[in-house]
Amino acid sequence: MVILGIETSCDETAISVVEATGTFEEKISFIVRAQALYSQVKIHAEYGGVFPALAKREHAKNLTPLLEKALSDASITTVKEKPNFDEEKIKKILERESGLAESLFALVKKIDTPKIDAIAVTAGPGLEPALWVGINFALALGEIWQMPVYPTNHMAGHLFSPLVMSDTAFQFPVLALLVSGGHTELVVAENWRGHKVVGQTRDDAVGEAFDKVARLLGLPYPGGPAVSRLAKEARQANLTPEFSLPRPMRDSGDFAFSFSGLKTAVLYLLKKFDDITDDLRRQVAREFEDAVTDVLVTKTEHALRAYAPRTFILAGGVSANEHIREACKNVIQKYPDTQFLTPTIDLSTDNAVMIAAAAYIDILNGAAPTTTIKAEGNLAL
Ligand code: KG4
Ligand code: ZN
Repeated sequence: MVILGIETSCDETAISVVEATGTFEEKISFIVRAQALYSQVKIHAEYGGVFPALAKREHAKNLTPLLEKALSDASITTVKEKPNFDEEKIKKILERESGLAESLFALVKKIDTPKIDAIAVTAGPGLEPALWVGINFALALGEIWQMPVYPTNHMAGHLFSPLVMSDTAFQFPVLALLVSGGHTELVVAENWRGHKVVGQTRDDAVGEAFDKVARLLGLPYPGGPAVSRLAKEARQANLTPEFSLPRPMRDSGDFAFSFSGLKTAVLYLLKKFDDITDDLRRQVAREFEDAVTDVLVTKTEHALRAYAPRTFILAGGVSANEHIREACKNVIQKYPDTQFLTPTIDLSTDNAVMIAAAAYIDILNGAAPTTTIKAEGNLAL
């Protein structure tokens, strides 16, 4: 089945075309036919974080050009006819998304109707103004092309993202550590039909902590890549921190996390220095990354012992972090019955391929398409 994926939950506008095959009983495989993505990070960098109204405007501006690109890259089969639709009805669906109805009309009148079996769109969690743009775009497309639309959970997208790589299969039980800008969760799945969150952060998510510490160090948004670059420089130069940062809740014995104290500890640490030199920045970045990694790996090991999974997944934007990936890979080597899966870097951070993949799992589970979807900023996994 060919699925069109749409993702607008934060500051990435993304459209994918994914061919999904297989069932729970056989192997599930995905072929990525197209992946069009526009990252707004440069625009938000000025504000030091994502500015929702701006994200909304940018999504509305970029969805149609990205759709055009994705469809042309995917060289999808088309039906040689133009859609016949009620423009007023579509205008109503898109009334809050400035300029989107006009650009979409121009496109669908120009191209033949693609053969797509399902449209999948992120319904949450994320920034609601941003989510709405993708949702309304998906509903409008579903109406124009008469295709079924499926609301999809963004974190389920991260969870299933490793399935998109060739030769990966889930062996159950699955344990997943999902680490992104808004979430830090340990998830256990016994089978395809469900999963439960066994632990999560009580305050900041790991990615958020990276972003906040980056700001304290005067580094640009998004902070993860910037902090990890400095940490790497410190390791390469053998620059050992002359201080230590706390490992919040590392030894709490449960699966809960807390990262806001770590950011505060960095704030107080920096206050002790009159001069914030580049080497001090590198040392702080290294110690911060070590502290985060230490907590994540310790909790993961605790969960590996408790749930004896046959697959361990590290996913979400922070899984792009080389140091954390390596640390997880190393810990898993101690558990020969558990395979380690982590998405490729381009599938770690937000994308629409994982949304199509998660929708396929929902469809196999019997999900029904809908013509009304509500953005849910706090949608749980
Ligand atoms: O999953 P994602 O792209 O968006 C959300 O769903 O939130 O994750 C974004 C987060 C940001 O906080 C960003 O700083 C972090 O992932 N991130 C990283 C790295 N690349 C992205 N954190 C640490 N190291 C990285 N290399
Ligand atoms: Zn994400």
